[in-house]
Amino acid sequence: MKQVLQVRLLVLLSSLAKAAKLHQEAVSCDSFQCNLEQGWAPRPNRSTLPGNSIEKCCRPTCKRWTCSKGYKAHPDYYNNVASSNSACCDRLCSTVPCNASFGVPTRMRNVPGKTHEECCKPLCSQHLCFGSWAPDPRKAHQAGSSNEECCTASCAALACDASKGYKYFLERYERAQPAKNPTDFCCQKTCPFYQEHCGEGRGMNLADESKMSMTVTERDFQNKCCEPKCSSVKCQAGYILDPTFLNYLVSKIAHGSEGCCLPTCKAFECPAGWMKYHEADNFVSPYLTKDDCCLPTCAVHKCGKGWFTSTVPTKLAKVSRSDRTCCEPSCAAAGCAAGLVLKPNAFNISSGSTCCEPEMCQELRSKRQQVKYCNSVAEEAKCNMSYDVHDVNRFSVAPCAWSSELKLCLMDSTSVLTDCGPL
Ligand SMILES: *[C@@H]1O[C@H](CO)[C@@H](O)[C@H](O)[C@H]1NC(C)=O
Ligand SMILES: *[C@@H]1O[C@H](CO)[C@@H](O)[C@H](O)[C@H]1NC(C)=O
Ligand SMILES: *[C@@H]1O[C@H](CO)[C@@H](O)[C@H](O)[C@H]1NC(C)=O
Ligand SMILES: *[C@@H]1O[C@H](CO)[C@@H](O)[C@H](O)[C@H]1NC(C)=O
Repeated sequence: MKQVLQVRLLVLLSSLAKAAKLHQEAVSCDSFQCNLEQGWAPRPNRSTLPGNSIEKCCRPTCKRWTCSKGYKAHPDYYNNVASSNSACCDRLCSTVPCNASFGVPTRMRNVPGKTHEECCKPLCSQHLCFGSWAPDPRKAHQAGSSNEECCTASCAALACDASKGYKYFLERYERAQPAKNPTDFCCQKTCPFYQEHCGEGRGMNLADESKMSMTVTERDFQNKCCEPKCSSVKCQAGYILDPTFLNYLVSKIAHGSEGCCLPTCKAFECPAGWMKYHEADNFVSPYLTKDDCCLPTCAVHKCGKGWFTSTVPTKLAKVSRSDRTCCEPSCAAAGCAAGLVLKPNAFNISSGSTCCEPEMCQELRSKRQQVKYCNSVAEEAKCNMSYDVHDVNRFSVAPCAWSSELKLCLMDSTSVLTDCGPL
């Protein structure tokens, strides 16, 4: 009994499975929807096809196709039932082979195109770059036909700023500018580039055009461009730098380096009769005079009325401008030794000379007359009124005296007088 039940159960189960299978085979794709939006189109004769799955009932459209490299999808093809680059994609220019001296420009690589004509353009190697443009070797093998595509800026396109001390490197004028420091490559440095670098006490003569246009380097600009300024001049002893010219180039100064310096009184030579005034040693002037640097001594003093130039060296060396210090008074106040009297012109002669004369001088002056020789006088009375002048040693005079023995008028040699005032 139990056995029978089991057999029936098995029969039942297997007939159920059979029924299910029959049912499945009986379902047709007719009732299966292929989603076009998702890239599925129904297979042809679908009504006759059994099945109810995408695989059995649908075929993929281009929408489900991924274009290979070098191809590009296009919405126009989305609903095409196909699965290939040729049916679903546009070919791109990047896949088109160009013949020699042609290439696909970068901007066209992703543009649809199939033919040489559509896609290939001449290579930059065929383009002539000139003027502000120079050939760019990196671009020679890419397609292009404009300066912008094929060339790189040449040195001519760069301004070598003369105001900053640059000038064009003529041999490189048409060459390509390097990416780094193009100015260093295209431009040369001239003196003014280094004008702030001459250093302490040196500078440049910017007005010297031929010098300033010289090409120089870091190493030689000092020698070629820079010159000393007055501030670096060493003045000779007794001179100091003229503060007015410190910042001037020596070459611009009249008289060169000497013109940078001013004399101090220390360097001044006082003329004869003037003495150095040491308190003025540091006095400075372009035109020093003896009055700036020296003091007059009595030697250059002009004695006033009633005063007489001295001959005493110690007196003459004194620094003074006063008559009292520098000059000799007249003989007026002089005293005379016994037997001597003041000369009659005592007021008019210096006390430094001989002020006094023998008393006899007055007799000669008032009572006698000068003769050439006493013995030329024949009469006694006239002989008593004459005197003779001798200039043997010093100026000397002697009265004449009558010799009664010889009956001759003779010079009285016992009374020779010296130092008489004017007779
Ligand atoms: C689909 O049907 C057409 C005519 O209805 C027939 O000629 C063709 O052979 C069928 N194709 C398939 C794959 O059954
Ligand atoms: C390059 O290809 C084009 C198009 O196919 C052709 O017209 C032209 O003559 C070719 N040029 C050279 C140099 O081969
Ligand atoms: C002395 O000088 C005065 C003027 O100062 C003059 O008048 C006089 O004649 C002079 N006398 C002599 C002796 O030179
Ligand atoms: C001349 O002088 C002498 C001496 O003083 C005197 O003796 C004599 O008498 C004088 N003769 C005359 C002519 O004055």
